[in-house]
Amino acid sequence: MSQFLSNCSVDALATAGQALKDGFLVAFPTETVYGLGADATNATAVARIYEVKGRPADHPLIVHIADLKYLEQWILDIPEYAIVLARQFWPGPMTLVLQRSELAKDFITGGQNTVGIRVPDNSLALGLLEAFHKLGGKGIAAPSANRFGQVSPTNAEAVKEELGDYLSDSDFVLDGGSSEVGLESTIIDCTGEQPRILRPGAITVPIIEESTGLKVSNSLDKNSADFKNEMTRVSGSLKVHYAPKAKVFLDQQPVGGSGFIALESIDTPDGAFRLAAPKSVEEFARVLYSALREGDRLKLKQIYVQQPDGDGLAIAIRDRLSRSANTN
Ligand code: TXA
Ligand code: MG
Repeated sequence: MSQFLSNCSVDALATAGQALKDGFLVAFPTETVYGLGADATNATAVARIYEVKGRPADHPLIVHIADLKYLEQWILDIPEYAIVLARQFWPGPMTLVLQRSELAKDFITGGQNTVGIRVPDNSLALGLLEAFHKLGGKGIAAPSANRFGQVSPTNAEAVKEELGDYLSDSDFVLDGGSSEVGLESTIIDCTGEQPRILRPGAITVPIIEESTGLKVSNSLDKNSADFKNEMTRVSGSLKVHYAPKAKVFLDQQPVGGSGFIALESIDTPDGAFRLAAPKSVEEFARVLYSALREGDRLKLKQIYVQQPDGDGLAIAIRDRLSRSANTN
């Protein structure tokens, strides 16, 4: 079992930064979901991430840095529009995929020539990153802190539930309360002439187009040669993902005794158990994963979700839900 830090002082963050430097794992909050961190230049430490998550080793990891100034060392070149995005939305829920430098080894990129980088917008994450950079650290590799294919954790309790049995006494879990966004970052492929979305999130297509003045290619062309390849690269884009133990049904009438998640304006159908009643799409994103977890805690067999309509963040919510519903 790991060490659990709930009042993270500067000293505590320095201790956690040192643990990373020494090759141990530190789970930490970000504004999207909790991440399971390791020194992104340490092959042995990164191998433990895969072990603890039970994740296939050819899936690339996102490297987290404290500031745009640490980006340069990780990449070869960067198009103008990606600089614009980084300046505008970092720290924030956006990962940029760029041509990798020598520093981004195969054990981070899954052998690809690109690397995903992000500056998270969370004070504990940034404090940890600063402490780590101070010790000479280059970046923290961190996937979501869940077992492979499961629901991403949005609070420290959920991290303990997912990974507690797999972490060691020298690893840490930092408690920073609930993640504000609640869904994983938007992943944007910045290796082409235009930005391309690999995973939708809180930084949406209209936001990116407005910021860069460029058209975004939003979806993968299913007939392209890259398609199958791409699907294995972005593990969050696999069909079986973000799934609770309960079977998830979308936009259907619930049977009695099942869980129900919908916007507050939608009444709970007779016999269903309300797991969440968010007032807005933003709140929907924030509470979705913990509501799915609550369904599992209550040992519900089925969870019915009435999906929010519309563009923006609702697209990311429906993306994750369609994958949750594709399992079992
Ligand atoms: O919000 C987030 O992005 C969270 C927090 C912890 O930062 N992290 C996260 O990591 O969601 P993970 O590993 O659970 O999902 C990252 C996704 C994976 O599907 C991975 O395949 C993709 O990012 N990815 C990472 N590097 C990539 C690259 N170079 N090219 C394409 N996809 C990449
Ligand atoms: Mg994940």
